[in-house]
Amino acid sequence: MTTEFRNPHFHPRNAGDRFAYAFVRLLRFFADLFFAKRYGHRAIVLETVAAVPGMVGATLTHLKCLRRIEDDRGWIRTLMDEAENERMHLMTFIEIARPNWFERMLVLLVQGFFYNAYFLLYLLAPAVAHRVVGYFEEEACQSYTNYLELIDAGEHANVPAPEIARNYWKLPANATLRDVVLAVREDEAGHRDVNHGFADELRGHAAAIPVTGSMKS
Ligand SMILES: [Fe+2]
Ligand SMILES: [Fe+2]
Repeated sequence: MTTEFRNPHFHPRNAGDRFAYAFVRLLRFFADLFFAKRYGHRAIVLETVAAVPGMVGATLTHLKCLRRIEDDRGWIRTLMDEAENERMHLMTFIEIARPNWFERMLVLLVQGFFYNAYFLLYLLAPAVAHRVVGYFEEEACQSYTNYLELIDAGEHANVPAPEIARNYWKLPANATLRDVVLAVREDEAGHRDVNHGFADELRGHAAAIPVTGSMKS
């Protein structure tokens, strides 16, 4: 698997983009403060957040298509695939690190807040909601890059890949955590491009990426 990786930053074009970026930077600030270099724990908590927007977006797009009696152009399946893909990230990292009771409480609280806040945001400003995810995924790519650097520096043990991960990404029997993080980072880059593309399309710009197809490839 190649280690060459691009994580281009989408420059905010308007107030909605700037709001989305500021919100994600604030999240990043708290994540850095709380988790520091504990990337396994960080991944678990943040993946429980990352798995929410796809399901919210799919639900609200589904309802909108029912109301307007119109085709979804593949958006619903794409967003549901994103949610499932993020849940598989969670199920993978739970094999690497175990959340403590405080992190489990944090997951509960953050989910209660984030699900409702994101639902409202998507209802009122879906383009901003997709932009939030685009930026969230830029940060996820950066976090997993940092995680890889720690593994390569020997600061984090490069343990064998969990079976669930080997099955899901079809990795060889001797695959390691490093291979898993590379695969996860590729997924996050896919989510990043899809969500920035959806935000562009909702604003009437041409989508930079095709809107159909699975996230996992
Ligand atoms: Fe993820
Ligand atoms: Fe993601």
